[in-house]
Amino acid sequence: MTFKVKDHYFHKAKKENFLARSVYKLEEIDERFKIINKGDQIIDLGYHPGSWIQYTSEKIGKEGKVVGADIKEINNKLLNLSNVRLFQKDVFTIENMAELGVSDQFNVVLSDMAPNTTGVQSVDQIRSLNLVEMVFSLFPRFLKPGGNMVIKVFESNDAQVFLKAQKNLFSEFHYLRPKSVRTVSKEFFVIGKSFRP
Ligand SMILES: C[S@@+](CC[C@H](N)C(=O)[O-])C[C@H]1O[C@@H](n2cnc3c(N)ncnc32)[C@H](O)[C@@H]1O
Repeated sequence: MTFKVKDHYFHKAKKENFLARSVYKLEEIDERFKIINKGDQIIDLGYHPGSWIQYTSEKIGKEGKVVGADIKEINNKLLNLSNVRLFQKDVFTIENMAELGVSDQFNVVLSDMAPNTTGVQSVDQIRSLNLVEMVFSLFPRFLKPGGNMVIKVFESNDAQVFLKAQKNLFSEFHYLRPKSVRTVSKEFFVIGKSFRP
């Protein structure tokens, strides 16, 4: 379970039956930038325990589909959601869409993945940036032209430089640090709308 600090968002998530407080980050991003639409086919990279899957499953409705991949064991608590497919995989070993049981590219790519942190800021920043770069490298295969994305990033100068260079891949490019991010955390989210490969 991702709950660590028992703050307002922890209690709110428990009360509303979400598997993690991170759901409020995605909710704020989606309310602001309109990322997820009814009927969408979505991939959630590093979905575990699955609060983003819960939010997305509800939002896309019965016509949509959300695929979750994580190195952790499949979370059985999500198996009752009929529009969800889960895989236990390192996302960077996925070679083709067929492995995920889909044929079309996704309307939305979500990534809340975080590296294993060491506590050494410079090392953690590099690891996080590597993850972000690797997610960008998946877009040509995974993301439909016109599709949207949300990726978690740890703040660093190098991350800023990298992201600036990717801006033109999307018609709209935004940065947001949602209200529910803990004050001690260095994370923020990059949001891209309308992919133009
Ligand atoms: C912060 S958690 C995600 C929380 C999730 N958004 C939620 O709402 O419940 C980050 C997850 O990324 C996963 N992860 C990190 N690197 C990964 C990789 N290369 N492939 C698949 N999953 C990965 C971790 O196992 C972890 O479960």
